[in-house]
Amino acid sequence: MRLRKARLSDVEPICSLINGYAQKSLMLPRTTFHLFENIRDFTVAVANESENVLGCGALHFYGEELAEIRSIAVDESQAGRGIGRSLVQALISEAESYRLKRLCVFTLVPEFFGKIGFTLVDRLSLPEKLFLECVYCPKINNCDEIAMVLNLEAVDCRRDVTGNPVETGAFDNIRQGWPK
Ligand SMILES: CC(C)(COP(=O)(O)OP(=O)(O)OC[C@H]1O[C@@H](n2cnc3c(N)ncnc32)[C@H](O)[C@@H]1OP(=O)(O)O)[C@@H](O)C(=O)NCCC(=O)NCCS
Repeated sequence: MRLRKARLSDVEPICSLINGYAQKSLMLPRTTFHLFENIRDFTVAVANESENVLGCGALHFYGEELAEIRSIAVDESQAGRGIGRSLVQALISEAESYRLKRLCVFTLVPEFFGKIGFTLVDRLSLPEKLFLECVYCPKINNCDEIAMVLNLEAVDCRRDVTGNPVETGAFDNIRQGWPK
């Protein structure tokens, strides 16, 4: 498995991956229009021997200090191999390269993000998300997502829960990872 920044040709497989989970109400649906507009936010996990997209995730800026990690999805056939964690850690490295101070996530799987160091917060503490995104969401009145944050100034995100360094590979120089 390799991680790299997404390319325009990844939009269709990313869309299928996300909308497959959206049909099961595990994620919000995305259109290809939305994905083309936001493709530079995305990192993908691809197979070593091909460009098949195995997973995806996005880092979306809200300001100089805050960004959201969103659209994390791993193909069901690849679950439990550490791809989801690797994607989040790559996005954390990308956030660090931009000198961001906090990351937020709105999720139905708080246990997954909790293992990476995110902690629960009141969603009202994230007005950027509420005013820029939630007001347009069809689920605004019955939102079941849980808000979490990671303070990048307080946590050494490059170490796993046992304190061992995490291999983030090409993402140490994230801006060199743009598609050719
Ligand atoms: C959640 C998801 C991204 C996890 O991807 P993955 O590649 O299977 O996860 P990893 O193998 O990297 O797991 C990392 C850790 O999280 C745990 N974990 C993974 N999914 C979990 C879940 N649904 N609930 C609780 N813990 C979970 C793993 O057990 C592992 O723990 P460990 O380090 O103690 O062994 C994937 O199942 C998925 O795409 N789900 C549907 C879409 C979704 O809910 N995305 C999140 C949107 S915010």
